[in-house]
Amino acid sequence: FPSDKTRAFGKLILFGEHFVVYKVPALVGAVSAYTDCELQYLDEPGLEVVDNRPAVPNYKQQKYDEGMEAINLTLNHLGVDTKKRGIKLTFGGDLCCASGIGASAAQVVSLARAVNHAESRSMTEDEINAAGYEGEKGYHGTPSGIDNTAATFGGLLRFQRTDGAPIFEKKSLPSPIRIVYASTGITASTTKVVGDVKAKKEADEAWFSNLLEQYKVLVDDGQKAIEDGDLVTVGKLMDQNHALLQELTVSCKELDDLVAAARSAGAIGAKMSGTGRGGLMLAIAPTEEIQDAVAKALEALAPQVWKTTFA
Ligand code: MEV
Repeated sequence: FPSDKTRAFGKLILFGEHFVVYKVPALVGAVSAYTDCELQYLDEPGLEVVDNRPAVPNYKQQKYDEGMEAINLTLNHLGVDTKKRGIKLTFGGDLCCASGIGASAAQVVSLARAVNHAESRSMTEDEINAAGYEGEKGYHGTPSGIDNTAATFGGLLRFQRTDGAPIFEKKSLPSPIRIVYASTGITASTTKVVGDVKAKKEADEAWFSNLLEQYKVLVDDGQKAIEDGDLVTVGKLMDQNHALLQELTVSCKELDDLVAAARSAGAIGAKMSGTGRGGLMLAIAPTEEIQDAVAKALEALAPQVWKTTFA
């Protein structure tokens, strides 16, 4: 099966998780690790799902029901009726599923690509992305769309949700950014964490709007620093973004400990990435040696650590 035609990437949010839900810009980088999906037709009606994706312990069990819901929403959106013609879906690829890496979005985008390929539909990338967005609703009710957009288009994106279609733009990098990311091993529920933030916002709009205003300055400065290749400033702003996320109460001790360890080992910036209250953190390193040192420091604390480069 032509796996390259069904690939969808994982992502790391550099700036803006949670704030992005409230229609302010965020910056997201796709990682090269991907999920793919093989679609085979069955002789009987029905849906069979084989999940061969690598994952951190407990991830698949905890996300099983949401995952099936996401698959069904994606198939419904695409008008695929498994009661008429059965299908077997086999998910694979080298993206290790962990809370924060966009594994859910990568799964539904790869499914949309698999349907497109199997039925020779000639869907546009925007149509693939739209199907991914519908699927994401299975994993959490009100996705901003940032994860499925990164999964579909790859690269480094400035993304903003609007009342209509999201606005996004690919950014090029003057110099590669060396990243280390680590999983706390804790799988968080995006629905729950996004819902908690919403409740806190509704209980104290002034508190939330103060954080949001600080964030808006930070993301524009962050984008400029990335475009200028000024990694020291990018790092500083990531530290500030982490502090805002702590105030938003979406970080946790495990994430804060990893962030502190990365900074002590020489990272020029570190923050949680994605949903939080578990999930992932990421750090940027100025050199390959420091990237190795940061990875080593994190390996002492985290069940899983990866190195990658945004280029
Ligand atoms: C999850 O990767 C990012 C969140 O901002 C949720 C979303 O944007 O849909 C927490």
